Amino acid sequence: MPPRKIIIDTDPGQDDAVAILLALASPEDIDLLGITAVAGNVPLALTQKNARIVCELAGRPDVKVFAGCDAPMKRKLITAEHVHGKTGLDGPVMEDPTMPLQEQHGVDFIIETLRAEAPGTVTLCPIGPLTNIATAFERAPDIMDRVQEIVLMGGAYFEVGNITPSAEFNIYVDPEAAKIVFSSGAPLTVMPLDVTHKALTTKPRIDAFRSMHSRVGDMVAEWTDFFERFDMEKYGSEGAPLHDPCTIAYLIEPQLFQGRHINVEIETQSDLTLGMTVADWWRVTDRPANAMFMKDIDASGFYALLAARLARL
Ligand code: BDR
Ligand code: CA
Repeated sequence: MPPRKIIIDTDPGQDDAVAILLALASPEDIDLLGITAVAGNVPLALTQKNARIVCELAGRPDVKVFAGCDAPMKRKLITAEHVHGKTGLDGPVMEDPTMPLQEQHGVDFIIETLRAEAPGTVTLCPIGPLTNIATAFERAPDIMDRVQEIVLMGGAYFEVGNITPSAEFNIYVDPEAAKIVFSSGAPLTVMPLDVTHKALTTKPRIDAFRSMHSRVGDMVAEWTDFFERFDMEKYGSEGAPLHDPCTIAYLIEPQLFQGRHINVEIETQSDLTLGMTVADWWRVTDRPANAMFMKDIDASGFYALLAARLARL
């Protein structure tokens, strides 16, 4: 099979950074057409810069990085410096990137690419708030049918929430955008907290990155060390969830994940449960299924894949 054409839509974020590295380390599986940055973990000025830092770290200054939307569709931006630090990529000291930011707006790039490539051949991998994707769908509804698959990190059912008691960060930041994406009719695969909270960075897993004795291995180890503190304190767990790379790992080794094809709706009204992914896991409604909602991951297989691929960089 030829490598899958994808666009990563992202708000780096240390775990976003690892997702980008995994994609760049896997050319036989993934053809990365471009990266679109969105405001999320930190403001857009930082997420677009961080995306370029990561490409340069991977030795790929040729990757096209675009700046997309700087605020959610209808709400004020909520950020997550409390998890990712002031820069979004806190941990090791990183040089400013020298590779250029593309002039085109990220949303226009998404629209143009989906129109230019054959229908059903481009996969979108959103690993931040869904603002760019929903804005593209709203502006150019014709592209929704042309998407091969959307593989996103966001939402939760059994794990409920991480930014509020009932919502996961990416969905909570822009619930209106999430609603548009979840009702787009495009084939949707969701990596919720139910999966990512099982993908924990234990000490031996971080040591595997460090023992690569490469700049990428060292950076990934330092990033994971950094954002671990917060989650270990919060959850009392052995490590922190490495959320976003689950999407890329799914494209490479889908058998690592298990879930159900079910209906998932987004709450956009209630103050208490704003941004909740209301997942009909038990199929108690007759609402039509719109998402492959994952629940389980082979975490050892996932970390083995990550270590094997990142060692190439
Ligand atoms: C998601 O929110 C961000 O902080 C992470 O990068 C991930 O995409 C987890 O809720
Ligand atoms: Ca993210």
